[in-house]
Amino acid sequence: MKRGMAAVLVLGLGVLAGCGNAPGGTGGGDEKVVRIGLIAPLTGDVKTFGESTKNAFELALEQAGYKAGDFTIQHFIQDDRNDPTEAMNIATKLITEQKVHALVGSVSSKATISVSDVANQSRVVHITGTATNIAVTVDEKGNRKPFVFRACFTDPFQGQVAAKFALETLGARTAAVLYDKGNDYSVGLAESFRQHFEAGGGEVVAWEAYALTDTDFSAILTKVADAKPDLLYLPDYYQKVSLIGKQARAKGITATMMGGDGWDSSELDFATMAGGYFTNHYSPEDTRPEVQQFVTDYQAKYGSVPDALAVLAYDATNILLEGIRRANSNDPDQIRQAIQNLKEFKAVSGQISFDENGNPVKPAAILQVQGDKTTKFIASVNP
Ligand code: PHE
Repeated sequence: MKRGMAAVLVLGLGVLAGCGNAPGGTGGGDEKVVRIGLIAPLTGDVKTFGESTKNAFELALEQAGYKAGDFTIQHFIQDDRNDPTEAMNIATKLITEQKVHALVGSVSSKATISVSDVANQSRVVHITGTATNIAVTVDEKGNRKPFVFRACFTDPFQGQVAAKFALETLGARTAAVLYDKGNDYSVGLAESFRQHFEAGGGEVVAWEAYALTDTDFSAILTKVADAKPDLLYLPDYYQKVSLIGKQARAKGITATMMGGDGWDSSELDFATMAGGYFTNHYSPEDTRPEVQQFVTDYQAKYGSVPDALAVLAYDATNILLEGIRRANSNDPDQIRQAIQNLKEFKAVSGQISFDENGNPVKPAAILQVQGDKTTKFIASVNP
């Protein structure tokens, strides 16, 4: 049976959320095929993240003509619902059943960390566009997972940029930090912010944890109101920060709100969060030709301005395709070496070379939320 047909049959059983084959591609003959799985949250609490990711992944493959070097690309798309266990199960299935050579995704750090462990142990190339937690590319002992890469900067850097901006540009002296204790991204970013804010002379006057299922923040926010911070740092995803922001304002807390890339969604509560700042991976206002070309192409296909999720999924996919081209092989070990050796790859989110831990070194953008559902570019900060 042809490979492509196998994938279609699995789709029919409802196991795969989607799959694709190269239009006009060979569809069979394993020697010249590279199979790529995409794992993304297409449903659940961060579904706009998954939608943007899927769109950009498909755009990158389409623009490449479903080819890299002499190889035809087959792809498989699956929904992890932003659940780490589901993400791990899907990764295992893609590797053992679909026999993928490479995985792109997932989006959030908590889902991606479990994917990275499976991929690395199975010696399958893994690149996430967006998962910023440090543990994605290194294990608990600090050892590199050699098959794993990311296209984004990391949370230690993102938290540092936010702290510096809060202290130096906003003139904040005190901050309250609220974070989701079950979310690796939220915890890591909160810690990095606190470390750098305190090192720079600031004081964290409230440090409060909550759970993913919490919806009423009045107890925590009463403490925050009493502490009267200059800044309210909210390192979480768009739904949760919108909810907390709304309840904070209702309690009369006037502190400037700030957060990280998790704010980047068309479903952020712009009216509530207007005036707030967040660190992000790109600005659509950036005049570099790579950015403007991507914005044009994405808008033509999907009718909206791409967010950072789209940019990073596009970059991650193109980095993988370039690795396959350079290796001209479907051997994951050769592909990952080619990726590691890329130098100043012209990605949309910046020029990418990888450090020894598979992390690109590149600047962060600071954006301000506007009431008219847009964001304004404020500054770019280099590592
Ligand atoms: N950095 C977030 C995480 O690791 C995911 C994310 C990236 C969200 C970019 C929005 C934009 O969980």
